[in-house]
Formats: sequence, C-alpha cells, structure tokens
Amino acid sequence: MDIQSLNVRNFRNLRHIDFEPHPRFNIISGQNGQGKTNLIESIYWLATLRPFRTTRIRELVAWSEDESSVDARIRHLGLDHRLSVQIKNGQRLAQREGKKTRANQYFGALSVVLFTPDDVGLVRGAPDGRRRFLDRAIFTGKPTHFDDCVAYRRALDARNKLLRDNASDDLLDVYEQTLARIGSQIIKSRTSFIKSVNSMFVENVDAILGDGAAAEIRYKRSASTDESIEDELIQIWLKDRQRDRDRGFTQKGPHSEDLVVSLSGHNARNYASQGQQRALVLALKIAEIQLLKKRQDQVPVVLLDDVSSELDAYRNERLFHFLNRFEGQVFITTTDPAYLRIDGDKKQFSIERGSLSIQET
Ligand SMILES: Nc1ncnc2c1ncn2[C@@H]1O[C@H](COP(=O)(O)OP(=O)(O)OP(=O)(O)O)[C@@H](O)[C@H]1O
Ligand SMILES: [Mg+2]
Repeated sequence: MDIQSLNVRNFRNLRHIDFEPHPRFNIISGQNGQGKTNLIESIYWLATLRPFRTTRIRELVAWSEDESSVDARIRHLGLDHRLSVQIKNGQRLAQREGKKTRANQYFGALSVVLFTPDDVGLVRGAPDGRRRFLDRAIFTGKPTHFDDCVAYRRALDARNKLLRDNASDDLLDVYEQTLARIGSQIIKSRTSFIKSVNSMFVENVDAILGDGAAAEIRYKRSASTDESIEDELIQIWLKDRQRDRDRGFTQKGPHSEDLVVSLSGHNARNYASQGQQRALVLALKIAEIQLLKKRQDQVPVVLLDDVSSELDAYRNERLFHFLNRFEGQVFITTTDPAYLRIDGDKKQFSIERGSLSIQET
C-alpha cells in the first residue's frame, strides 16, 4: 500500500500541504520546530484516527482555526481508496471513499508503523510506554484492538469510581465481570502478538548486535493460563478488593502489565547498555513490520520521525540496511539528510514554518 497524494489543512502548524509522495522514500528535512513531526502525525492520525502526541484532538487544529482536515488517495492491492478525516467543532469526522463511516469500516486501506525518538527509550522507560508500544503494534494488524482498549479503560474507570464511592460487593461483582471479559480479550491479543513476534525479534537482535547474546521478549501478564483468563482476573480483583477500596483504584490487571525484554537472561531495562537497549528497540520495530508482512501479507507505510539522530552510526547503518530492502513506502524526517543512507528511489522535501517544498535531486 502507498499514499499517492496527501492533502493537509490547518493541522497544527501545517496550513496547507498538498503533494504526491514517492512510492518508496520520502525525505522531509527541516530545522527544529518547522513541522516535521506534525507532518508525520497527520499521516498517523489519518491512518489510525488517533493522534500520537496528545489525547485531545482539539490540539491538532491550527491555532485560531476551527477546522482541520487530512485527505489522501491510497493505492492498496491494485485498488484506489480515499481516506479523509476532519476535525470540526472538536469532533472527528472520518470518511472512506467519500462516505462517512464507522471506525471499524474505515481501517484496512492504510496501515502505518511509526518509529519516533520516544520509542528509542522504550526498553529503559516505564511500563506504560511498553504497553502503548504493544497496543499500537497490535492495532496495526487488528484495528479493533483500540476499541477493546477504550472499552477496558471505561470499565476500569467505572470500577475505580465504585471503589471510591464504597459501592456494594454485589455491584462490584457485576462490573468486574465486564472488566474481566474485555480484559481477557486484551490479554489474548497481546499474548498472540508477543508469541508471533519473538522469533523475528531474536533474529534481528542477533543480526544487529552480532555478539551471540540471546535476546528474549516476554509478556508479564496477570493471568497464567490461556483457558481461564477471565476467571483468573475475577479472582485477582476479588482478592484485592479491600486493598483496592483502601487505595481507591484497581492495582492489577491488563493496565498494569509489562513487556520484559531480556538479554542473556537478564532484564535489559536494568542491565543492558544504552547501545544494546537501542539495538533491542530497533530489532523490535523491524520485527513489527516483518510480522505484518508475514501474517497478513501487508506492507505498511513506515513513518520514521527523526530517529537517525537518536541512533549511533552502526545502529543507523543497520536501520538503513533493513529499509533499503523493505519494499514499501517510507516517510523519514530529519534535521540533517547526511544521516540518511538511502539507495532507493526517493523524493526530497524541505519544510519551513509549516510549508513543504520539493527539492530537486
Ligand atoms: N495546534 C497548533 N497550531 C499551530 N501550531 C502548532 C500547533 N501545535 C503545534 N504547533 C507548532 O508546530 C511547530 C512545529 O512542530 P513539530 O513538532 O512538527 O516540529 P519539528 O519540525 O518536528 O521540530 P523538531 O526538529 O524540534 O522535532 C511548533 O513550533 C509548534 O509550536
Ligand atoms: Mg519533531
């Protein structure tokens, strides 16, 4: 799949951008604060209907404007598609093929894998960053996953409110059943993703680090068996109920789980060097792309926001080694094109104060 044309209006500092990207590499260079990440975010927003730097969609609309829109023509499996997402009066309006659609009918024409400087700190950072990584990666191959996450969050907030309001045990029983049903769905999706991605991840780490250190990725989840996840969750919440009442929130569940990445049997978060941690993240991101191809024969559009500046020369070389062989469309932003080692066909753009211009090569 690739984006054949993109039109962005009043999205953050991008007043009006209209261009035809290259089916392979698109390099967008510009100084700090010119709109590089905004452009990547506009594509991510169009593909996922989620912003990646905020949860408030109003922030996406250019200051002093009321409306924003992102439109694209996409070619996927020999067919043309049109996607469009508008923000009007703080509301989102998504359209596919020119018709208003519900989110679950919207997805499928455009999948993106995003790699940002924030991801580089994934291994070292807090568990919520790793859960976000995991849920985003699952979403790319299974768009209903975000609905599960949103439904879980709502049900969790409801339980937390009941705990604080000192609600009866009977009422909590009922809410916990709903929470367990959605929670078990999330756990199943996460388990299946980790299982599938592990071998590719291990191979990639081997290729990037090349020092024989065995890597592993493990999902530290609330339930131990695959058959009775729902029951296990209900048991956990029942056991913790008094403690949860005292604290006023639900401590355990899919919202407190973690992804453990280890190198030679030791948790990489605590023991791996900075360079090793970055290599692990890179290996994981590449595995995420490989998995889409293997599982669904989907070649996603890859969005790289200024990651080269975060990787050292060797890791950068490995990234471009992969990208040069990857057959899909790539958008790369950078403050300095000298970091980029691209062999393939490309278009180069520069961005200044929210305006994009093509550079002759
Ligand atoms: N809603 C908005 N309306 C107008 N401008 C905005 C809005 N949100 C953010 N901006 C501005 O957009 C500008 C560009 O931001 P962006 O993050 O895209 O920069 P960048 O080119 O990626 O810079 P860096 O190299 O530092 O990452 C910032 O100056 C910011 O103030
Ligand atoms: Mg940026």
